[in-house]
Amino acid sequence: MCGIVGYIGYREAWPIVLKGLKRLEYRGYDSAGIALMNNGGDHIYKKAGKVAVLEEFAETQDKSGSIGMGHTRWATHGVPSDRNSHPHTSNNDKLSIIHNGIIENYATLKEELISRGHEFKSDTDTEVLIHLIEEIQKIEKIDLLEAVRLALHEVNGAYAIVIMDKDNPDRLIAARKGSPMVIGVGQGEYFIASDATPIIEYTKNVIYLKDGEIALITREDLLIKHLDNVVQTPLIQELELKLEMLEKGGFDHFMLKEIYEQPRSIKDCMRGRIYPEEGKVQLGGIKEFAEKLKNIDRIIIVACGTSWHAGLVGEYLIEEYARIPVEVEYASEFRYRNPIITEKDVVIAISQSGETADTMAAIEMAKERGATIFGICNVAGASIPRLTHAGVYTHAGPEIGVASTKAFTAQVTVLTLMAFYMAQQKGTITTSKLIELLTELDHIPEKIQVALESNDLVKEVAEKIKDSTNCLFLGRGSGFPVALEGALKLKEISYIHAEGYPAAEMKHGPIALIDEEMPVVFIATQNSSYEKVISNIQEVKARKGKVIAIVTQGDTEVKKMADYCIEIPDAKEAFLPLLATIPLQLLSYHIAVMRGCNVDQPRNLAKSVTVE
Ligand code: M6R
Repeated sequence: MCGIVGYIGYREAWPIVLKGLKRLEYRGYDSAGIALMNNGGDHIYKKAGKVAVLEEFAETQDKSGSIGMGHTRWATHGVPSDRNSHPHTSNNDKLSIIHNGIIENYATLKEELISRGHEFKSDTDTEVLIHLIEEIQKIEKIDLLEAVRLALHEVNGAYAIVIMDKDNPDRLIAARKGSPMVIGVGQGEYFIASDATPIIEYTKNVIYLKDGEIALITREDLLIKHLDNVVQTPLIQELELKLEMLEKGGFDHFMLKEIYEQPRSIKDCMRGRIYPEEGKVQLGGIKEFAEKLKNIDRIIIVACGTSWHAGLVGEYLIEEYARIPVEVEYASEFRYRNPIITEKDVVIAISQSGETADTMAAIEMAKERGATIFGICNVAGASIPRLTHAGVYTHAGPEIGVASTKAFTAQVTVLTLMAFYMAQQKGTITTSKLIELLTELDHIPEKIQVALESNDLVKEVAEKIKDSTNCLFLGRGSGFPVALEGALKLKEISYIHAEGYPAAEMKHGPIALIDEEMPVVFIATQNSSYEKVISNIQEVKARKGKVIAIVTQGDTEVKKMADYCIEIPDAKEAFLPLLATIPLQLLSYHIAVMRGCNVDQPRNLAKSVTVE
């Protein structure tokens, strides 16, 4: 979490850094700060609150300078406040730092520095690092780059940092380990950022700084070293990102835009991968493991949040079609267990951002124990695709709303393709069956378009239940992960307490909550558990619960019982999660808007969770 931006060049740094922070605000938004360097020295402006608060605060201040760096924070150490906002300065105020990550051994280092006379102005771990750098420079009498390198050997944890030095006002130093960092390469200028979104309008040429690398950046040049002091040759890559992908495109919120993008994003995700007439799936990213897939014992899916829900859908699909046992694990739990993993296991790590700390740690552990690791990731070049042996990108395009929508359906699409691909390799599916399934999958984007047409009706339902304090989401089979995802969407953006449950589990506890005030959302599409779900709906109605049902077009049975029915197009059971998710995304969106919530940046959350 936290977003960082830096600029060194010939333009005014303030507007570049400020705009960059707005682009990165999805990463954290409880406080923001910018440091600028000009001939008269440095200026640091920082404020609790959103980037807009900082912008207003600095309106009348001196904002000149062609070197600058900025930070938008998601608090870990120290409450969101002006004094805990970045940049932080060294004891002598000459060095300043912005940091994304956590310095885990900061407390011991801080104690030692205090005993050497250092005084701290904040409660953050970050301030400790810049004091440590100053102290090392003072004791060893070395230049700043070397002092930063040595200091980074003394810290544990994750970081992406940028450092400015009043004594050397024509340079920036940047380094990373475990937190992302991209350097944009211009003519006589360089840009630094947590991801490429602040850079795209200035240059398409970027260098992804690797873990354990440190860079000395001047207007004319860039030197990259590894922390072990070996100089590295940078690899300049061209960005595929387009500026319009980062704008709302006429929608009120990024979340709504991203919901409506799903027919396109799912099409992009399948492009070049399915051949319905031949009954064939091709996944170039995992092709070299095609043989291995024939003999694996087990698949373990690791992920967090929404990506974990996608993993649960994957479990149904892989077991159904490829007949390989699947376990779905929260990465945050899995990494701290002592799981039995063998070389015959494949671990699939799912992550939209490709930066989630717990998922990365789970991958590292499984890799050490000999498993083959596949990644399913949305952000090209992120850390997770680098850590895995092979993988499949979701190609959903940048997802800016903190609540995941199009990334979820793209993850489910990739898992569907993987299930079919594995089935194809193992011979657990016939070509004619695959032709049938792929032909229908090919038309899912059009069906999603139809599902989106329920928007007006969903809005009416939202109006009726927007003031509820609780909500239950129930489903069976692959409708269960859809229910979990519906509940997560509602709670994270509208702050209504919501729970997802397997519908049959309701009678083992949650049924006690049901009264006339309780909306219960059922995934009641026509699939193998339809009859059973109908019985569960009756149980809720018998207790005066308010039933909202997601049903298959033309349904008559559920309509007799439910208070509100939202239709989705008919589809094979394998594809129902893709369609049933759409009205639930719209429902949580409209409820959140009606309740006056910040849909794109819900409180306390951040888009990429780079801390454990
Ligand atoms: O980037 P990741 O997919 O690894 O992120 C995992 C979760 O943090 C994420 O899905 C989170 O639950 C979202 N806020 C859900 O909308």
